[in-house]
This record gives sequence, structure tokens and C-alpha cells, in this order.
Amino acid sequence: GERITRDAYGRPITYLRVSLTDRCNLRCVYCMPAHGAKFAPREELLTDEELLTVIRAAAKIGFSKIRLTGGEPTIRPHVVDLVREIARIPGIEDISMTTNGLLLERMAHDLKAAGLRRINISIDTLDPIRYKVMTRGGKIEKVWAGIAAAEDAGLTPIKLNAVVVRGMNDHEVPDLAALTIDRPWQMRFIEVMPLEGVADVHDTGLVTTAETIELIERVHGKLIRLEAPLGDPARVYQIPGAQGTLGFISPVSEPFCAFCNRIRLTADGKLRLCLLRNDEVDVREILRSGGTEDDLIEQIRFGVWRKPWGHGLREGDRNTGRGMSQIGG
Ligand code: GTP
Ligand code: 5AD
Ligand code: SF4
Repeated sequence: GERITRDAYGRPITYLRVSLTDRCNLRCVYCMPAHGAKFAPREELLTDEELLTVIRAAAKIGFSKIRLTGGEPTIRPHVVDLVREIARIPGIEDISMTTNGLLLERMAHDLKAAGLRRINISIDTLDPIRYKVMTRGGKIEKVWAGIAAAEDAGLTPIKLNAVVVRGMNDHEVPDLAALTIDRPWQMRFIEVMPLEGVADVHDTGLVTTAETIELIERVHGKLIRLEAPLGDPARVYQIPGAQGTLGFISPVSEPFCAFCNRIRLTADGKLRLCLLRNDEVDVREILRSGGTEDDLIEQIRFGVWRKPWGHGLREGDRNTGRGMSQIGG
């Protein structure tokens, strides 16, 4: 029978987002401060074996979906081997990754062969110069090559993520949406979340999902609402006749906490119970002090039990403790 772990509010928690590193080969304006984030010293990061031990324990209590995040997950050494080992764990049904795509051209096929199922790729703009500005130095051609490689490797369905920042890429929303007319991608528009270190980006004023949809409908006509899987943070729509779909992620204007099905494992070995609250439970110490798998399972259950109902952004609680690149989104 199913042994799914529920939190104190009855939500089934089956999805673990695993941050493989807090480092990144970019410094996106909505994610890191201009001078970069402070990186954890190497000895504080979980080793491959430690990561796998936590995931195995989680799988035993009903976690079935793993997403690899960062920083940038593709810069972690041996990431392909890690995917292969995760894919072997009984109970893990879905392994995916969220990446900036820069290194995918050379890694997509190996990742797929190792057992990665699908991939979400960040692309906030179509303009090479604006891309360079928003990512502080990235080359957009690399992302397109990465998307093509992911598609060729069968890492599908591909989801593209754009964080909408007023005055930067909001005027490009209809063009980004138009990508889905001829391609079977899901283009997702994400409200900026005010995590540590990126104050300037949300000071310009949130572009809400309602506003984003209006921008798109003005150009492409009335969107069709589609059914989305339970636990999907995105509300899904389609431009009539398009190959792909549009997703809208509204953590600020319409939080999806009631359907939250996830916790996170940070690269330095903490269970992060909600993206936007500074509530964490340690697992590294258990791993390094000779704890057993049962000890780990007990700690994961404890973390899930302590998972807060949701964030307090609307009540003005902005103490997230860490920045996005240290949590993995
Ligand atoms: P799939 O649904 O499996 O494709 O992935 P996902 O949408 O959960 O993952 P992805 O990493 O692509 O995240 C998309 C956006 O949703 C990012 O901006 C994340 O920070 C945000 N997000 C993901 N999970 C949560 C969450 O639990 N709470 C909030 N507030 N935002 C989240
Ligand atoms: N608000 C919303 N989304 C963000 N991301 C990074 N920083 C933020 C933020 N402040 C997105 C990235 C990536 C995903 C993991 O999180 O674009 O697609
Ligand atoms: Fe790196 Fe992703 Fe943060 Fe951009 S959003 S700086 S790609 S971790």
C-alpha cells in the first residue's frame, strides 16, 4: 500500500526539490545581488553519497518526485552520475531539473540517458542584449542551443520559465507567449518573489499574473483555460490553436500554498520547509554523526510535520533568511 507522508494540515508531501549547489554561472537580477551571493564553503555541502542517502530515506516515506535545482545544478561535478543513482532508487518516479540551460547543449543527452525525465529552462527575454543585462553576462545563443538539445534528447515536455520584471521584460510578454504557437513548450510567467538580496527588482512594482494575462490577451486574443495537474504551481492556459501552452505562477497575488506538495533540501543539508519562510530542519548533522536511515526518516517526518501552512508576504513577513540561489526556487 501507499505510505505517503502528510503534513500537519493534511497535505501529501511527495516532492523533494534538491539543490545541488548554491553556485551559479549567472547572477540574474531577481535572484542574486549584483556583487553575487556568499557561497557556502565546500565542507558544508552534502557529498553525492550524503545526498543519495537523504533521497533514499525520503523515497521510503512516499516521496516520488525529485527536482534538481541550484544555484545552477549543471555545474555540480558528476551531476550525470548523480541522476543515474537517483533514478535507481525504488519509489522515485519522476526526476526533473530546473536550469538556466547554458550547459545543456553538451549535457542533455547524457542526462536523459541517465534517467532525467524532463527539464525546466529559464529564459526571461528574447533579446540577446537584455538577456545579458538580466543575467549579468549570459549568452542567449547558449540557452537556445540548450533548449534544442533538450528537445532532441527527449527531455520533454519542456517548460520555459520567465520571471516578469517591470521595466525590464514586461513589454516582451506577448512575444514570449508567442513562442508556444509553433512549439509544444509550456511558457511560464512567474511573479517576482521578494527573497533576500534582490530588493531593487521588486521595488519597481509587482507585475501580477492578472496584468500579464491582460498583456497577452491584448495581442493574442482570449486565452483558453486548461486543466492542470494537482500540485502544479502554474495555472495553465493556451493561445487558441497553439501547439504549446502558457503557465502562470502567482506566488504573491494568488498563493498556491493550499496545494503545496513539496519541501526542499538545500545544498548544505537543511530541509527547507517553505520557499518563503525561514524554517529549516537539519539533516547534515544526522548524516555526519553516524545516524541511521531510521533517524533520517524520523527527521524528514519531523520536518514535514513542521511545514508551515504558507508564506506571510501579504502580512509583510519577508524574513526568508536566504536568497533564491541558496534555496533553488
Ligand atoms: P514542475 O511543476 O514539476 O514542472 O516544476 P515547478 O514549477 O515546481 O518548478 P520550477 O523550478 O520550474 O519552478 C517554477 C517557479 O515556481 C519558480 O519561480 C519557483 O521558485 C516557483 N516555485 C516552485 N515551488 C514553489 C513553492 O513551493 N512556493 C513558491 N512560492 N514558489 C514556488
Ligand atoms: N522570484 C520568482 N522566481 C524566481 N526565480 C529565481 N528568482 C526568483 C524570484 N525572485 C526562478 C528562476 C528559475 C526558478 C528556479 O526560479 O527563474 O526559473
Ligand atoms: Fe542562477 Fe538560476 Fe539564480 Fe539565475 S535564477 S542567478 S540562473 S540560480
